[in-house]
Amino acid sequence: MAKQKVFATHSLFDPAREILKGTCDVEYWAKPERPPREEVLRRVKDKEGLICLLTEKVNDELLRAAPKLRIAANVAVGFDNIDVAACTKRNVAATNTPGVLDETTADFAWTLLMAVARRLSEGEALTRSGNWKNWDLDQLVGTDVWGKTLGLVGFGRIGRAVARRASGFQMKVIYTDAVRAAEEVEKELKAEFRDMNALLAEADFISVHVPLLPETRGLFDSAKLYRMKPTAFLINTSRGPVVDEAALVAALEARKIAGAALDVYENEPFIHPGLKRANVVLAPHMASASLETRTKMACIAAENVVALFAGRRPPNILNPEALKKS
Ligand code: DGY
Repeated sequence: MAKQKVFATHSLFDPAREILKGTCDVEYWAKPERPPREEVLRRVKDKEGLICLLTEKVNDELLRAAPKLRIAANVAVGFDNIDVAACTKRNVAATNTPGVLDETTADFAWTLLMAVARRLSEGEALTRSGNWKNWDLDQLVGTDVWGKTLGLVGFGRIGRAVARRASGFQMKVIYTDAVRAAEEVEKELKAEFRDMNALLAEADFISVHVPLLPETRGLFDSAKLYRMKPTAFLINTSRGPVVDEAALVAALEARKIAGAALDVYENEPFIHPGLKRANVVLAPHMASASLETRTKMACIAAENVVALFAGRRPPNILNPEALKKS
């Protein structure tokens, strides 16, 4: 039986290639840099499947260039790079990789939180610079994490995984979400519900875990940032556009908040110059970047593709309507 033609915009990891090799004839993008847009459009022309990263936009333009396409499998849980409605219109299944990165992302939210509270970036820069002359009593004094209040904006799988880790730090956990969690969940995680304004006023650390949707774009605007405590820190491992960067820079400049730790940005890989300050920890969108997790993500994308071509429902389909029509 002829294999299905697939373009993968990354060479993926061996276990994912293994999953694909039985049913798919995969053309891998193996260069270290991301493929230029024209190259993606050229390569999808004759493909039935696309395995892509969050750096590729799957929109009308791409779908027009790929008339045979049946599936766009994102190697990410966030899928704001995919126009799902446009995919559905053309009977193209869209899939993502939920679940496998929750714990790893939660670990990294904590990495950022600890780093900004305890001024790790500054400490490391000083140590490496050769300018560290002596221990001193008030040198690089940060702020305690233990015993403080952690505010979670978004209380889905990742927000909850972050909450679970807070008990070791004897923290109070408060959260806000469009939908309040079940009582057992609140009890298990010792998390208390607040409305957004109450959370902003109470939390010492605010960690953001919402998807990028029209209603969350620019969620952290001046008004919200100005409601935070001047001693509080903002941590974002969700999507950059959830935070209005210009507003964040203004709030930092005006000392309306104590600092921020960011893994994601409005226009990646561009970093707003105003964010390059001592009280901001900057990471290059790496919260899920453990070998174990990234390998699992690639395998899940591969499994979604293989399932569709085998006539099964892809386990992580975002638009089941696309299947009904085909
Ligand atoms: C995702 O999956 O959405 C992350 O941002 C990258 O792992």
